[in-house]
Amino acid sequence: MLHRFAALFLLIVSLPLRLHSQRQPVDAEGHQWWQHAVFYEIYPRSFMDSNGDGIGDLVGIDSKMDYLKSLGVDAIWLTPCYPSPQVDFGYDVSDYENIDPMYGTLGDFDRLEKDGKQRGIRIIMDFVMNHTSDEHPWFLDSRSSRTAAKRDWYMWHDGKGPGLPPNNWISEFGGSAWTFDAKTGQFYYHYFYPQQPDLNWHNLAVKDAMFDVTRWWYKRGVAGFRLDAVDTLFEDPQMRDNPGLPGLNKYGDPNQEKVHNTKLPEVHVILRDLRKVADENNAVLIGETWTKDVSELKQYYGDHSDELQMPMDFMFTKVDKLSPPEFRRQIAAVDAAGGWPVFVLSNHDIVRSYVRYGDRQHDQAIAKLMASLYLTLRGTPIMYYGEEIGMENNDPKRKEDVKDPIGRVGWPQEKGRDGERTPMQWDDSPNAGFTRGVPWLPIPPSYKTVNVAAELKDPSSILNTYKNLLALRHQNRALLDGDYVALNENDANVLSYLRRYKNEAVLVVLNMSAQPQDVGFDLALQGFPAKSAQTLLTTSARSKESSLSHLSLEPFAVYIGAVSK
Ligand code: GLC
Ligand code: CA
Repeated sequence: MLHRFAALFLLIVSLPLRLHSQRQPVDAEGHQWWQHAVFYEIYPRSFMDSNGDGIGDLVGIDSKMDYLKSLGVDAIWLTPCYPSPQVDFGYDVSDYENIDPMYGTLGDFDRLEKDGKQRGIRIIMDFVMNHTSDEHPWFLDSRSSRTAAKRDWYMWHDGKGPGLPPNNWISEFGGSAWTFDAKTGQFYYHYFYPQQPDLNWHNLAVKDAMFDVTRWWYKRGVAGFRLDAVDTLFEDPQMRDNPGLPGLNKYGDPNQEKVHNTKLPEVHVILRDLRKVADENNAVLIGETWTKDVSELKQYYGDHSDELQMPMDFMFTKVDKLSPPEFRRQIAAVDAAGGWPVFVLSNHDIVRSYVRYGDRQHDQAIAKLMASLYLTLRGTPIMYYGEEIGMENNDPKRKEDVKDPIGRVGWPQEKGRDGERTPMQWDDSPNAGFTRGVPWLPIPPSYKTVNVAAELKDPSSILNTYKNLLALRHQNRALLDGDYVALNENDANVLSYLRRYKNEAVLVVLNMSAQPQDVGFDLALQGFPAKSAQTLLTTSARSKESSLSHLSLEPFAVYIGAVSK
């Protein structure tokens, strides 16, 4: 009896303790693990193929765990590797609680998770919330009859008239967002491909089932989720037409303002509830949040910081040129938004940063410059595989070679996303060491020199610059936690700022122009009267001590130095 009483008592006192300890900060200021972490996006099809079928897999990723560790990565985000017909290369999920055989097994996943944990690398899964595959058992049931148990798990509606969809909403991937299903004589809604029917998030059974998916993976050890397409979870129940805009989009559809099927306020109710589940598991929620301005981005953190810890700032990727004034504006706005900033340069949906910022003359220097920018800002960076070696886009040259369906619908204006998804370039052996079979996407000839093995040998390679930057970030308090202070704000060519933490500060100076630049700093106003800086990293040929009153930088050069009081 006494025993049982004692056990109950222990359980009662330890419960709140357990919840609390799961959210242990990593420093005295209360920062959480994800605020000090560097995230790395892996597109599983393209990272490493272990069995020679030309498609990457989990065993392949696992075999590169030491590489990721030595690079300085703390968490990997795997884009979807669940069972899927692969119409949208995994973003059409037919079973949320399994691994597609082409990528391996749950056992492979568990090994990956364990090997990651041993090295301090966490795993983030992709959570495709808005839609399932049309082959998911839920949808198969839903479409089977008007009275099916799961009919209301998706959005079924009558057309406006014979052959006419319920309203004018268009799909993000071209054509009407409605597909007629002859079996039951109604249309179903899909914001993306017809093979990706939208779930009906007004239905609480959908919410329960999807929330349970996250619990299932938390139990398996995942550290969080990247939430796919959160903007599109809800649609106007009255199904009003979207207002039209002039012109046609790249798929030939009339433009429209998607006011009735994107960014509805109900999204935030779901995010708050999903966050509660994440908090119980010390997990992080990252959002695919396409926002037009900082006030929109702010909403995703939640009014009480109770929604996403890490909504991605994609406005940063829209500064598609090396413009100090534009970066300055954008960084300051996000920094002032109140949440912890999340910086991204590229991902599996956008042209690689190497190409977007490059000028075809100084591409390598520019890649190092951009890395030095977003890896030294206040916030968490999310890298995209291959960026660290300067991988370029390898876009299809002919329509018949396109794999990503939007590239076929939108050709030649939209060539699809194959170009930014090509296999990781490991060495100069055939197929860049990615596969011993035929790679699912072609590897550009530049792999002969742009590859991990070659760049590891060159101290000034893009790869070694990333490694040095990441090592610096991990040790330096000012880079981890310091505030952001813009400097020389009228300079149109050189972007510079101070990261300031108590008695330490780091000065970052980035020449974003093709001309040499001379700059000077007086940091007394910022509390650092020192006349020189201690060089931490530079891509320019210079000495260890640098005079703050006169720094000269070669085209696109980077200077990072420590300043003390
Ligand atoms: C997100 C993904 C993209 C996918 C789409 C539909 O935007 O990043 O790759 O096609 O959602 O799931
Ligand atoms: Ca939806």
